[in-house]
Amino acid sequence: MEVVIRDNPEAMAKLAAELIAEVVRRKPKCVLGLATGSTPVVTYKELIRLHTQEGLDFSRVTSFNLDEYVSLPPEHDQSYHYFMHENLFKSININPKNTHVPDGMAKDIPAFCRWYEEQIVKAGGVDVQLLGIGSNGHIAFNEPGSSLGSRTRVKTLDEGTRQDNARFFKSMNEVPKYAITMGIGTIMDARQLILLANGAGKAEAIQKTCEGPITAIVPATVVQLHPKATIIVDKAAASKLSREYPAEPRVLVLQ
Ligand code: PGA
Repeated sequence: MEVVIRDNPEAMAKLAAELIAEVVRRKPKCVLGLATGSTPVVTYKELIRLHTQEGLDFSRVTSFNLDEYVSLPPEHDQSYHYFMHENLFKSININPKNTHVPDGMAKDIPAFCRWYEEQIVKAGGVDVQLLGIGSNGHIAFNEPGSSLGSRTRVKTLDEGTRQDNARFFKSMNEVPKYAITMGIGTIMDARQLILLANGAGKAEAIQKTCEGPITAIVPATVVQLHPKATIIVDKAAASKLSREYPAEPRVLVLQ
């Protein structure tokens, strides 16, 4: 696991997009694991720029998203289907048939979750998984206490997570209570992880993730076990780290 500190979210996004683009160029038929939330938006902007200005080709890429709210239809402006379409898919040449976001409207959620896992395997597994982190240390919607070996399933959202996300809804009542999320075991199966965090609100979660003991109470700490994980943070999110970290990621040199 390595930690890279950048001056601001734009510089973080440049690096994250460069790492993803490197995978797409090396393996045009790759599988990307994608995330939602405010953090990855800047990375998606940079990927769109790489597509439009530098011809980065997504035509053979497959994608799987981490999570989706239960009971929000895809056309709801706070659904993650909608988010992905607006923030990335509509602006690059990915084939919509090759994009996957969990179906929050699935009638049989356990069957859907099994199907989702099977589709990831059938596609060849995730080559690079982008991750945000919750202020409580969650990854995707794997809230504190989630099994570190968990697979795709439905989870009840923590009250704090609902409050963090309430800014996107008209009222707290409208914030969904449940989500379908890839499990921590599912995420850890990806060949490469890129975890992004910016802002002081993430500083404590980042300190625990990078320097604390591995614990289900802070699910993101599991990335310490991953053989190829890069944590990209801005100075505010890095403010509680106690060790010195190198300025450049090794993975760029090794690939
Ligand atoms: P954020 O969410 O990017 O909106 O801060 C991250 C997360 O909860 O995983």
